This record gives sequence, C-alpha cells and structure tokens, in this order.
Amino acid sequence: MLTGINTDVPYEKLASLKMPEEETQHRYKAQKYYWFVFLVPTLLLAVMVLQALLVPLPSRTLRQTCTDPCRLVLVESIPEGLSFNTSTTNPSIYQTWLDLISEAQSSLDIASFYWTLTNKDTGTHEQTANQGEDILAGLTRLSKEGRVSVRIAVSMPQESQPQEDLAILSNAGADVRKVNMRELTSGVLHTKFWVVDRKHIYIGSANMDWRSLTQVKELGAVVYNCSCLAEDLGKIFQAYWYLGEAGKTIPSHWPANYSTPYNKDTPLELSLNGTPSSTYLSSSPPALCADGRTQDLKAILSVIDDAHQFVYIAVMNYLPTMEFSHPKRYWSDIDTQLRRVAYERRVHVRLLISCWASTQPAMFPFLRSLASVNDHKSKLDIQVKLFVVPANPRQKEIPYARVNHNKYMVTDKVAYIGTSNWSGDYFVHTAGSALVVNQTSAQSTESTVQEQLQAVFERDWDSSYSTPINQHTDLNRLC
Ligand SMILES: *[C@@H]1O[C@H](CO)[C@@H](O)[C@H](O)[C@H]1NC(C)=O
Ligand SMILES: *[C@@H]1O[C@H](CO)[C@@H](O)[C@H](O)[C@H]1NC(C)=O
Ligand SMILES: *[C@@H]1O[C@H](CO)[C@@H](O)[C@H](O)[C@H]1NC(C)=O
Ligand SMILES: *[C@@H]1O[C@H](CO)[C@@H](O)[C@H](O)[C@H]1NC(C)=O
Ligand SMILES: *[C@@H]1O[C@H](CO)[C@@H](O)[C@H](O)[C@H]1NC(C)=O
Repeated sequence: MLTGINTDVPYEKLASLKMPEEETQHRYKAQKYYWFVFLVPTLLLAVMVLQALLVPLPSRTLRQTCTDPCRLVLVESIPEGLSFNTSTTNPSIYQTWLDLISEAQSSLDIASFYWTLTNKDTGTHEQTANQGEDILAGLTRLSKEGRVSVRIAVSMPQESQPQEDLAILSNAGADVRKVNMRELTSGVLHTKFWVVDRKHIYIGSANMDWRSLTQVKELGAVVYNCSCLAEDLGKIFQAYWYLGEAGKTIPSHWPANYSTPYNKDTPLELSLNGTPSSTYLSSSPPALCADGRTQDLKAILSVIDDAHQFVYIAVMNYLPTMEFSHPKRYWSDIDTQLRRVAYERRVHVRLLISCWASTQPAMFPFLRSLASVNDHKSKLDIQVKLFVVPANPRQKEIPYARVNHNKYMVTDKVAYIGTSNWSGDYFVHTAGSALVVNQTSAQSTESTVQEQLQAVFERDWDSSYSTPINQHTDLNRLC
C-alpha cells in the first residue's frame, strides 16, 4: 500500500491554459497595450511552469513510502548431486513456485523466455523432470479453475522451439502473448519473473524449464506481501503485454502510467524483513524503459561504483563484447567499471563465472585479463574463478544442463538480483530486469538480504566446484 501526497499536476487544467481566442479587430486594437504589458509575461510564465512540471517527470512525483510488511527470501535451485560444506541453504525455487501457485487469489502474471517444463524435449527419461511437470500441472489447474487470471508473456518462440506447454496452458484458459523482441529490438525476451495478486513477486535466473529446478544452478528472490514493489514490476510486465499484441511497435515515449517514481536516485523506501531498505527495479533494453525507470546497465554500473570494500559477481556469461553482433563489437562498460573501482578505490573484485561444454571460448582471454589485475603491492585485487557443476554419465545425457546459471552481484552494501547474461547484447537489445536492494543497516536480528547473498557467494566461491583462472588453467580438462 502506498501512502503520501501525489503532486501530479492536473493535466486537464494545464491543457486548457490555451492562448485566448483572437477577439474582434477593434477590441484587439484597444487591448494592444494590455497584451504586451500583462498577457505576454503571463503566458511566458505559464510556459515556464509547464516546462518545469513536465520535464523532470520522475522527480515530479513526491517520494512515497511503503507501509507493506515486505518479506524477501532468497531462493535457489541446487542441481541434483551438488553438496556444500556450509550451512548456507535457501528454500528451493520449486517449492516457492508451488507456494505462489497455491497462494494466488486473483492474478498470476509470468514473464518468461521459453517453456519446457516437461521432459518431452530431451528424449531422455529423466526422473528429475517431475518437479517441472508439477509446476506445469499446477499452472494448468489454476488456469482451468478460472478463479485466477493467468497471463503469460513469452519471447516469440522460433520454429524449432517447443511450444507444447504454452498450448496446454492456453487451452486451459491462460492468456498467452508472444513478444516478438527479435523484430522489435533484435533481441529476445529474456526476463523471468512472476507477479502474484499484485502483491507477491518472484524474480531470478530460472527459466520455465524443468532443468532450472533440478539440473541447473539458479538463484532468485521472492518478495511476499509487497504491493508497492509488485505494482512497479507489474508496469514492466504490462509493457511486455502491450508489445505482445499483434502489430504493436515500441512507443517513442511510453504513456505516463508506465512510468515509475522508483529508481536508483529515488528508490522505494520500505521495510524489508524488518530492516529499513531502499529498493528499485531496473529494466533493459533502454527502449522498454518508461520515464523514471533505471536501465539495467546503469543499475549495474552504479552498484559497482557504490561499493566501498568488495564487489562479488556470479554470472553465467561474462564478455566485454556484443556477443551476437556482426561485425564484431567491443563493449567494455562493465569491464572498465570493475577495473576502475579496483584501481581507484582498492575495492576487492571477485567474479564467479560458469564453465561448461557450451561456454564461448572467447570468454577466457578476457577473464584472464581481468584476473591479471592482481598485485599485492599495488593493492590491486581482481580475482576470477570458474564454477563447474559436475555431471555423472546419466546427467551428461541431459542437454543444456549441469551449469551455474546465476545472475547476481553483491557488494558490501547492495544486493543485485538479475535475469541477464553479462555481455553487451543483454543490455542493448534483450529484455531483462533486476531487483536492487540497498540495506544500510541491520536493525533486526535477522541477517540482511545483502548478508544472505554474500553467504551464498562465499559458499560457492570457497567450494571445491570453483577453480581460479590463470594462464595455466587447462580449460579443456576443467569444463
Ligand atoms: C545466456 O547465455 C547462455 C550461454 O551462452 C545461453 O545458453 C542463453 O541462451 C543465453 N541467453 C540468451 C537469451 O541468449
Ligand atoms: C503475508 O501477510 C499475511 C497477512 O498478513 C500473513 O498471513 C502471511 O504470513 C504473510 N506472508 C509472509 C511470507 O510473510
Ligand atoms: C496504461 O493505460 C492504458 C490505457 O488505459 C492501459 O491499456 C495500459 O495497460 C496501462 N498501463 C499500465 C502499466 O498500467
Ligand atoms: C544505498 O543507500 C545509500 C544511503 O541512502 C546511498 O548513499 C547509496 O547511493 C545507495 N546505493 C545504491 C547502489 O543505490
Ligand atoms: C567438503 O569438504 C571435503 C573435505 O574437506 C572436501 O573434500 C570437499 O571437496 C568439500 N566440498 C565442497 C563442495 O567444497
């Protein structure tokens, strides 16, 4: 729930501030003096007021406070067979999704990249697909009941991609819209989030894929009882929903009701797990950002810039390039920022990157380059490790599995939970979004979101699944 004063100007009134109709000639002559001395300055003033009111739209809306008792829980998928030596464990994404499905009273909106919740696509007979199948069954049941409006925005599937889940859900009564990001921005819809009853949200790395529950390592966040945040994420969903209608193009300027007062400069102040926090949701690509929305890249750069002691990053892919562009293009925004804070402010930087059969070899020279910015005497400390999810012969049969798919960052101050791979394309063409949580002080006995995310990072970094990259790392053997 939002409280506070809204300073929105009544647009109708402004619109009626038109030049007065030209009056009859003789009266005009009589009023010449009046025009110059009184009306012209008044009109000039009106124009200035109009400009002042219309230009800084995000700052125009007064900061609002949120009185919801928001609860954030980090949730994970730990692939079958992985075990860590620490007590850092989080609820599973599978259980979280089941709970959200059973919790839904009126609406469930899902933004998604693709759907393969059953094992039909792989041709293996994987027992561990059962969790994905449960989720599909739950969503189908909910859509059939008709009590809850189920809406799914999905990236326009290519011919080769399975569409069976979407057909099942659509037949059961769910509303499905396919967003043609390829045509709109030469990208895809890579976002993965849920908005339930305009009150609870889930956001994270997991795709609507059975592997994302049992065979791929994922991290996300669920925020319960938080209509302020849910309404804001709902605006991002609504933009996908709009673009999913046939024949729609990206508006040159998104209508005012898509805009947000919450961003990196004026975050949403709320109580999260009993701790005062400021949060916002970022979005990419820029063309999908309405007024006030922080672009995902800008969020990342500002979180890195804000760190005082450390920046820990866990992402699947890291490339200072436009991965999919021809001709090739170098893209160093994030890379430069990391080197800058390491050099200028002696911030400790750690990157935990994934290594698996499908890893692009071009990633490694750039990672080695970053890792070589390490010198005790100069107090330069960038370290890079590769995380490998081991697979037994049976697990090796599962295509596109056994990988760390995390996409988050944690600094000494802020937790950033995103949905994008870290290469240029994801911030320029591809739709993604992230939740940024800034908790300056812990006032409750519970650890902060930042502390919890740091514990997850350290668990993985210190585990035997992570190997430092250096000039001698034998990548062919490792990945
Ligand atoms: C993110 O990166 C992985 C690994 O390259 C890839 O499989 C996945 O398709 C990427 N996401 C998109 C939207 O391209
Ligand atoms: C959300 O609020 C309801 C009603 O106040 C409460 O019963 C429920 O436990 C809350 N959920 C969480 C996860 O805190
Ligand atoms: C903004 O208003 C239009 C017209 O009423 C509506 O179709 C659209 O869904 C709204 N967008 C949001 C984010 O609420
Ligand atoms: C976190 O909050 C503090 C205090 O309000 C602010 O100075 C800082 O810029 C914020 N950091 C980020 C990354 O938003
Ligand atoms: C757990 O500890 C044992 C014994 O020290 C070690 O062999 C193993 O690699 C550790 N596992 C992880 C995931 O770190």
